[in-house]
Amino acid sequence: IATPGSVNSPSNVAGSFVFAFDIDGVLVRGGKPIPEAIKAMQVLNGDNEYGLRIPHIFLTNGGGKTEEQRCKDLSGQLKQDVKPGQFICGHTPMREMAERYKTVLVIGGEGETCRNVAEGYGFKDVVTPGDIIKHDAATTPFRKLTDEEHANSRTRDFSDVVIDAVFVFADSRDWAGDIQIMLDVAMSKGGVLSERSETFDEGPPFYFSHNDVVWSAAHEHVRLGMGALRRMFEITFKDITGGKGELHTHAFGKPQVPTFEFAYRLMGQWRRTEHGLVKPPQTVYFVGDTPESDIRGTNAVNEKAENEWYSILVKTGVYEEGTEPAYQPRVTVDTVLDAVNHGIQREM
Ligand code: G3P
Ligand code: MG
Repeated sequence: IATPGSVNSPSNVAGSFVFAFDIDGVLVRGGKPIPEAIKAMQVLNGDNEYGLRIPHIFLTNGGGKTEEQRCKDLSGQLKQDVKPGQFICGHTPMREMAERYKTVLVIGGEGETCRNVAEGYGFKDVVTPGDIIKHDAATTPFRKLTDEEHANSRTRDFSDVVIDAVFVFADSRDWAGDIQIMLDVAMSKGGVLSERSETFDEGPPFYFSHNDVVWSAAHEHVRLGMGALRRMFEITFKDITGGKGELHTHAFGKPQVPTFEFAYRLMGQWRRTEHGLVKPPQTVYFVGDTPESDIRGTNAVNEKAENEWYSILVKTGVYEEGTEPAYQPRVTVDTVLDAVNHGIQREM
């Protein structure tokens, strides 16, 4: 039995276990907190019968803002201070690729935000769809830049620009225009928009910050996500190249095991700096609403890791009660508050 304040852990901090939370459909829905989430955070912060503070981090596939801004938003929603040291979003691991590519096209998000995020990660030369449309308005027949977009987009002659990689940072706000531009790049000769490949296998790699086909937003039914954009892009590419081309697409985010390993490293730093814990936790409780991302990934990392990864599915998001989840969690509960209480009861 794990005890609070066990060996190597400061008193009243849980040393043997840790929680990790998905955000959309678990803590937040359509920008509003799920009511039980606020109480769940209080329980983690010591409002439980043991007076125990339980280390926890957040791991969302969402993105589109800097980690600092997302933490600010989440702090307001959950009424607790959330810090970048305990937060990972879909595009966070992309920062490790800033040195690898010189010129990158960044897709998704509001206005210039994703360009700013990419530059903040250290990417040296960041292009947006707006820059391409500003250079040649005929690129997207039905998308005209607003005056603001026109002013913010950079003037550039693309005839000799080599796009080395494409990063889809956040959900597209203009699927038709963005898919068109992604196809143009994919069908180009080595990422030069003015040169078409004859073989359609010379395009740069495409990285998506996650692969969720649907996600849980304000609507009663799930909404289309980045995985759906990826499918449309891949299928359309196949159709218009007659199946002869070749795309290089990759996804970050859950359920990829490296994303969970990245989260584990962050969790280690967070437990050390925030709570003074040195010994690794025996169990990581992961609370999610999407079987294909959250449960699949947690179960997969559990197979590989030395410690236990325990998957908890909640009913407040993508998973619908009465259906068979594609990946089986260790336990299914109603809300995130039940998930936290379940973990505590199992430990104490
Ligand atoms: O776009 C965000 C969505 O696909 C999932 O977010 O927090 O459920 O991983 P989350
Ligand atoms: Mg979710």
